[in-house]
Amino acid sequence: MSDELRAGLYAFDLVQKRAKRPPGAPDSSLARPVTKVGIVGAGLMASQLALLFARRLGVPVVMTDLDEARVAMGVDWVRSEIQGLLTKGRVSPDKASFLTRLVTGSTSKSGFADADFVIEAVFEEMSVKRQVFAEVEAVVSAECVLASNTSSLSITEMASALQHPERVVGFHFFNPVAVMPLLEVIPGDHTDDSALATAFATGRALGKTTIRVKDSASFVVNRLLGRFMGEFSRIVDEGTPVTTADRAVAGLAPMPPFVVLGLVGPTIALHNSETLNRAFGDRFHVSPSLRRLVEAGKRGYYLMDDGRPVPDPEVLAMAERPENPVELTVEQARERILGVLAEEVGLLLSEGVVATPMDIDLAMITGAGFQFWNGGLCPLLDREGASERVVGRRFLPPGVASVPPG
Ligand SMILES: NC(=O)c1ccc[n+]([C@@H]2O[C@H](COP(=O)([O-])OP(=O)(O)OC[C@H]3O[C@@H](n4cnc5c(N)ncnc54)[C@H](O)[C@@H]3O)[C@@H](O)[C@H]2O)c1
Repeated sequence: MSDELRAGLYAFDLVQKRAKRPPGAPDSSLARPVTKVGIVGAGLMASQLALLFARRLGVPVVMTDLDEARVAMGVDWVRSEIQGLLTKGRVSPDKASFLTRLVTGSTSKSGFADADFVIEAVFEEMSVKRQVFAEVEAVVSAECVLASNTSSLSITEMASALQHPERVVGFHFFNPVAVMPLLEVIPGDHTDDSALATAFATGRALGKTTIRVKDSASFVVNRLLGRFMGEFSRIVDEGTPVTTADRAVAGLAPMPPFVVLGLVGPTIALHNSETLNRAFGDRFHVSPSLRRLVEAGKRGYYLMDDGRPVPDPEVLAMAERPENPVELTVEQARERILGVLAEEVGLLLSEGVVATPMDIDLAMITGAGFQFWNGGLCPLLDREGASERVVGRRFLPPGVASVPPG
């Protein structure tokens, strides 16, 4: 019996049991039926959402976007995915033609009139989202739930100018939607129990792991990943070689941070770090090297060589050169990164963004692919002493996700 095995059992219990009965979800009898879905946007996330809603709920899904070409691109993507499922034998020919008929698109929102659930996945800008919700509200019934796939913006602010702010809820999926199980469900200040219950029931029907999260900048997973990536970049910007920093975080996340950055795209990563820095200040680092890389149109710090990430010498040459470089050892870098993660977990808990450390671990496992044998994150921070060192206490009592004492 090792700490890793105990943490793995704890993680298994989270994804098998806790995920099925999300704490903080209102009584499911309050949920309203969803018989038609509207999706605003036909971009990267919206298209994946259209496919998921059609497949899992089996109800009509209408997509809208700014012009015909974008609508057509979204609908065509969904159709080609359905075709792909058919070719692989994952759906029958009847099912494929049924699903194809379910998903339609239009530039007008009038098709939302009889929808019970409309989700927006438009540009990540408050003014655009508020405008979109106002337009949708003019078309739908007073009971229709309005959901937002925002990654960072306030749900309360998004709803504040509406006639019925009580039906607005945050519904934050992770990319790729078909692969990542997590769905952060975020009530705003005015969200009522019926809208929230409908959101949880819909999330469950979509096969997702739902976690209730307080309305706060970037919610849980993006905030913790942002802190992690930010501190990693800060250590490199200050003068520690990337290879040392990579060794320092071995076994902590499923991939080295700069590989994740390449997958997410440097532009989105920079935008995330700026958003978090604006919301919380300097503890979220905005890397000048990353900014240079985005301005130069580079795709990341690494080139892929036979599926293996290799640092791109051209990009490394563009990196920040500190006047007085500080080169940390692997141990020092690890201590710093685990320390800031412990601090951020402590803040998420004291601010009540989630109710318990278990929610943080379930979120990191299902939304960021953090490992079972670390129990997500909190058991790892306890195991390596970071939580006691920085927050002054363990997040989980000994024995919950570690070998019991004695
Ligand atoms: N990309 C990700 O990994 C990811 C993950 C989770 C959440 N999100 C969030 O999802 C949302 C969409 O992101 P995306 O990556 O799919 O962006 P995207 O740029 O691929 O798609 C956005 C779409 O919205 C459309 N649009 C803009 N204004 C509109 C309006 N007024 N009416 C109708 N359509 C409009 C655009 O034409 C575009 O097609 C953002 O809020 C983002 O933060 C993104």
